[in-house]
Amino acid sequence: MSALVEHLHRFVLDVKLTPEEWREAISLLTATGHITSEERQEFILWSDALGVSMLVDALEHDLPPRATESTVLGPFYVPGSPLREYGANIASQPAGDPTWVFGRVLTTEGEPIAGAEVDVWQNGDNELYAVQDPGAPEDHLRARFRTRDDGAYGFIGVRPVPYSIPSDGPVGQMLQATGRHPWRPAHIHLTVRAPGRRTLTTHIFDATSEYLDSDAVFAVKPSLLREFVRRSPGDPEAPPGIDGAWYSVETDLVLAAGDADEPVDHGRTA
Ligand code: BEZ
Ligand code: FE
Repeated sequence: MSALVEHLHRFVLDVKLTPEEWREAISLLTATGHITSEERQEFILWSDALGVSMLVDALEHDLPPRATESTVLGPFYVPGSPLREYGANIASQPAGDPTWVFGRVLTTEGEPIAGAEVDVWQNGDNELYAVQDPGAPEDHLRARFRTRDDGAYGFIGVRPVPYSIPSDGPVGQMLQATGRHPWRPAHIHLTVRAPGRRTLTTHIFDATSEYLDSDAVFAVKPSLLREFVRRSPGDPEAPPGIDGAWYSVETDLVLAAGDADEPVDHGRTA
């Protein structure tokens, strides 16, 4: 609290805050509270859009060599996704180009981790996550998987597309006022948990996406970029159930030793 008050006072002195600006700041905070609900966390969005989430992530994640880097959780994670079998399709309805997402969960020594939980969520080609989309079933484009004995995970998702962070509230006003755009590059979210391992919350970014160099929430790390490889219809490696053109993307997820985090509670229920 002492440091917070010191910095706050220094800020007020530096910018010579006027009573009118003070009132404006209070109304912005009030609007942030009013727009926040079970489905929307505008306070976390402020933290994301001001780069605070990534700064906290950087402080917390002093990773050993070879461990996969983390990035923001974002506001669209909903705990309690259905547990599905290896290879399952997470799209409950058509949502874009089918994509085989696969790899292994490993220790930093390269040993496979069997039974790790891989919790995934992503948007579809309408740019929306299921939790934002009244037309989508609750479990659309989200699922949990357990790795096999060789540490392998694999599922059919869709090729993600860039999307705008929610910009119809106070954070959107700030972006507009400061000449910033609200877009994020295309990505798939993963949180990986295993006993005796630090929980990893990360993304697979599409290496060819727009906005990689201007992510609205500063969450891109070069080590997380992957190629989505275009595969032809009839490719013998096509996972069951895919007929037309598809993509594949491979990424191993390497967990540092340590304690698993408590699951994050955004105040949402599944
Ligand atoms: C997301 O990737 O889902 C996200 C992250 C931060 C802010 C908004 C969206
Ligand atoms: Fe996202």
